[in-house]
Amino acid sequence: SFMSEVMGLSVLEKQIREKLHIDNVIIVPGDSDQQDWVKQEMGKACVAYLKNVVQSDFTIAVTGGTTMAAVAEVMKPLEKDGSYLFVPARGGIGEKVENQANTIVSEMARKTNGEYRLLYVPDPLSESTYQTIINEPSINEILQQIKGANIVMHGIGDALKMAERRKTSDKILSELTSQNAVSEAFGYYFDGDGNIVHKVRTVGIQLEDLVNINHVVTIAGGTSKGQAIASYFKQGKTNVLVTDEAAAKQLLREY
Ligand code: BG6
Repeated sequence: SFMSEVMGLSVLEKQIREKLHIDNVIIVPGDSDQQDWVKQEMGKACVAYLKNVVQSDFTIAVTGGTTMAAVAEVMKPLEKDGSYLFVPARGGIGEKVENQANTIVSEMARKTNGEYRLLYVPDPLSESTYQTIINEPSINEILQQIKGANIVMHGIGDALKMAERRKTSDKILSELTSQNAVSEAFGYYFDGDGNIVHKVRTVGIQLEDLVNINHVVTIAGGTSKGQAIASYFKQGKTNVLVTDEAAAKQLLREY
């Protein structure tokens, strides 16, 4: 029945909270590997959470990915008279246009009557280009806005899938394999114990910045991401994890 379904998920939410040491966990029914609409359900849960925490002048930083694109699809005005600024959390990171953070922030802004800024930076960057780019005034201005974000929304990916999607070089791919990379978020790759095994050098939010951000919202689901989610949270910090039933069950099965 519907009620037992709902109660079942709240038990699952409690188990995940305890296992990953996360204050808030929201689980939607289904498996986003199997059904695309499950990503949109996670998106709706995310929008509902945002409505509770957002204030009218907030800056919201978001990563790319198909999950975040689904959040943008279901985005709704958050607060009457609010004027938010949406910014990409990090530069580049080799996604298709529809899944790029730049595209996603523009859609979120349109749907919430907010504003957005874009970040045009290639990745990975060489050390010398990185130094030049962060000192470029127009880039520096948006970097300050990103670092001052009140909310960060991000996805988590399976390490090797993300590396392939980004057309990562063979050299790095074999490094990731030999170091048993399991998860990826913000361009960082982690092994099963949450150690950083590789990092794509680009501008924007760095992992250590997350401790200074009041609301970190993580959205990731699907059986295939159970292990990646567990790996990421050995290191990562969040205020709320929005996931699906399949990822949650897979995570408990493995750990
Ligand atoms: C990328 C983010 O754009 O999307 C990654 O930069 C994240 O940090 C990934 O892991 C998740 O993608 P998806 O398509 O599985 O939601």
